[in-house]
Amino acid sequence: MKKTIEEHAARFDDHATQYDESQNSAEYTACVDNVCRHAQADDAVILDLGTGTGAIALSLAESAAQVIGRDISEGMMDRASEKATQQGIENVSFAHGSFREPNYDGPVDIVVSNFAMHHLSDEEKREAIATIASFDPERFVLGDVMLFDEPDSAAEFFDPEVDDPATVGMLADALTDSGFSLTVVESISPQVGVLVAERSVGSD
Ligand SMILES: C[S@@+](CC[C@H](N)C(=O)[O-])C[C@H]1O[C@@H](n2cnc3c(N)ncnc32)[C@H](O)[C@@H]1O
Repeated sequence: MKKTIEEHAARFDDHATQYDESQNSAEYTACVDNVCRHAQADDAVILDLGTGTGAIALSLAESAAQVIGRDISEGMMDRASEKATQQGIENVSFAHGSFREPNYDGPVDIVVSNFAMHHLSDEEKREAIATIASFDPERFVLGDVMLFDEPDSAAEFFDPEVDDPATVGMLADALTDSGFSLTVVESISPQVGVLVAERSVGSD
């Protein structure tokens, strides 16, 4: 991780009120749509890690039984809670939790994460994926900045000062090592994609 958890949290706290309007790229919008399409499931319990202002959590709440949003930025989650109240959504809850310590130990059907895991180093991403696997979810849907090719420094979708995206190959290996089967690999751009990983039958 190129910044500490506290530095990332402070950065997102500062940006929370402008976050939604700033996320207007075609790549982000497509990623949200695709993640929601793959994670949507009737009556499921869904854990959203790095939930931010709730783009994914609030969208999935309509058909889910319950959505649990976790993030390290109280400012981002305050905005998510405000939106839930404004929209009359009652089956979603937000609380402090990180990839390493999600602060939740109930049953989970689907884990989802959008545009958040690229803040971790590759080693931390491996640990996060192992933690996600420990919930034994049916499915993990990851939308994120990820490298399908060598990054083109003239067209970088990320800020190398704070972001640390993995290659798709590294993510595929980490998912497989944690007992997932990679069932969908969608490239939205050379630097943004969606992976769907399902628990292999008989995984621990
Ligand atoms: C770019 S925002 C994405 C928010 C939301 N998922 C979306 O799609 O709009 C990244 C979020 O990840 C959170 N985050 C960064 N590092 C984290 C960590 N280690 N654990 C949990 N959340 C983290 C940030 O606080 C921020 O809210």
